[in-house]
Amino acid sequence: MPAFSASAPGKIILFGEHAVVYGRPAIAVPVTQVRAKAIVMAEPKSPAGQVRFIAPDISLEAALDSLPEDHPLAFTIRRAVSTLQLVHIPACSIRITSTIPIAGGMGSGAAVSVAVLRAFSASVGHPLTNEQISSLVYETERIYHGTPSGIDNTVITYAQPVYFVKGKSVEILSVKNSFTLVIADTGLKSPTALAVGDVRQAWQKDPQQFDRLFDSAGAIAEAGRESIESGQVEAIGSLMNKNHAVLQKMGVSCPELDVLVEAARTAGAFGAKLSGAGRGGSMIALVAPTASTYVADALRAAGAVGTIVTEVRQS
Ligand code: PMV
Repeated sequence: MPAFSASAPGKIILFGEHAVVYGRPAIAVPVTQVRAKAIVMAEPKSPAGQVRFIAPDISLEAALDSLPEDHPLAFTIRRAVSTLQLVHIPACSIRITSTIPIAGGMGSGAAVSVAVLRAFSASVGHPLTNEQISSLVYETERIYHGTPSGIDNTVITYAQPVYFVKGKSVEILSVKNSFTLVIADTGLKSPTALAVGDVRQAWQKDPQQFDRLFDSAGAIAEAGRESIESGQVEAIGSLMNKNHAVLQKMGVSCPELDVLVEAARTAGAFGAKLSGAGRGGSMIALVAPTASTYVADALRAAGAVGTIVTEVRQS
């Protein structure tokens, strides 16, 4: 068996996080500057059927059989083996590396799973379809996130801007005019399940207020779609500002995110918001291409531990 390699991008949520868990639409885009990569190599000297993971970023080197049932890598491969109805697995190693910040709202876990599934299924001669990959990764996400909407596995599998409604087929967005985003990492690790759980509790306590907030976020995502498809870049920015205000009301922002959002606006961004689960992780700012370095510098001066500039390309 030759080496089989595959990679998958990071992602950010442009509009509609949290509300998407409750059936409202959301928009996410891939971030191709950061990627997870998997390389599957034959290990003819290893015992038959042995699959070994090597993931230096998380200091993991272990055989599949030694990992617990609910370990995401083990779970992902076991589900792939049963989906593909494989009787015989050639002994192999799966080497995993990633430049996507972990727990930073950029889909690092989902991207690793997508890359592993693509490389592994190709190595056994049965490449999984995007639909199969996305649904297998959704199952893995459920182990850690409880009630994920499915937006992460979808945007990362398809690696294109998506308009997403939970339980419906994905719609790939056409982007009329390219636009530039600066992504800034607060450096605060924020487990998605915690923020999602808190929003659920708050919604159960005051369903009327939270349903209104989810509706507002959903309407912003709809308007965002129109702006993207009609090429009105500055309008996308002002919708991002509105979405941030709604997320603050949901209680998922934090002082560190608010400081960065404000710093981006002061530095001339068209709009800025937290992205993903909140309470840390990342924020995003929409900027004129010529302003990206200036805004990124301003964000680091305001406390961001890292910035990434990415372009959402015309399609
Ligand atoms: O933290 P992230 O980027 O994985 O974002 C989670 C997005 C939520 O809407 C909060 C949860 C979900 O499953 O959609």
